Amino acid sequence: TSSLPIYTLEEVAKHCSLDSGVWVTYKGEVFDITEFVALHPGGDKILLAAGGGLEPYWALYAVHQQDHILQILTEYKIGVL
Ligand code: HEM
Repeated sequence: TSSLPIYTLEEVAKHCSLDSGVWVTYKGEVFDITEFVALHPGGDKILLAAGGGLEPYWALYAVHQQDHILQILTEYKIGVL
């Protein structure tokens, strides 16, 4: 079982910029991707998802439906919803 903290959507939504930290959610998990923003091959577009869910954007940019990209995300997991 996971001992990671539980966050609310409200807490996640506060982390919506590089200054406040960039948090996103995906399938009920929470990720602090602040350090990844500068590494993102798709550039600043990643900030559109800051403070909320990745799902609508990854549905639009289907390039993300790859195991190695989910692997990257896992490295930044900080909690669950
Ligand atoms: C490309 C990771 C969020 C837009 C990529 C690629 C990776 C990546 C690894 C390269 C894929 C490839 O070429 O095979 C991530 C991760 C994300 C994230 C780990 C979240 C933590 C987003 C969001 C958006 C986005 C939220 C849009 C709002 C794009 C676009 C590309 C891309 C447009 C294509 C860049 C190009 O090839 O010209 N992303 N991404 N990404 N990403 Fe993301």
